[in-house]
Amino acid sequence: MGSMEDTEESAYKWTPDLSVGIDALDDDHKGFFEMADQLRDAVGRPEPDPMTVESILLVLDEYVTGHFWREENALKKGPHLEYVAHKREHDKFKTRYNSITTLYYDGRREAIRELPELVCSWIVEHIRRTDRRYAAWLKATDVDRRPLALLVSAQDMD
Ligand SMILES: [Fe+2]
Repeated sequence: MGSMEDTEESAYKWTPDLSVGIDALDDDHKGFFEMADQLRDAVGRPEPDPMTVESILLVLDEYVTGHFWREENALKKGPHLEYVAHKREHDKFKTRYNSITTLYYDGRREAIRELPELVCSWIVEHIRRTDRRYAAWLKATDVDRRPLALLVSAQDMD
């Protein structure tokens, strides 16, 4: 295994320096890396299998919707401006994410190839610049620990 390969692989893994100090949120973040890695593997094949790609996308959708809700809902306990700025970052990402998956479902299958890299590079930057700001004050008890699927339906009722 060459060093290039090692570097590339590590970009798709959560590392302890990305911890925000709250297990529920760290676990969600790990899921983004895991799903991006699975997606990279699936779309990197010569003939990507739509069933595989789409089942990964369903889980990834759950992370984007459910995890963002988990974080935003917890951030409502802190300064309002922090919450608003943070939510804006999430919304911007959601727009990019949705534009790619919409293209894919509209039949522009090749569009999905850029999603794994987008998810990984975005989550690393976002944790470092934005999530780490709440690490100083957010408490584990502020965070709704229910499973992602339930948070997705909670957000539908917002
Ligand atoms: Fe965030």
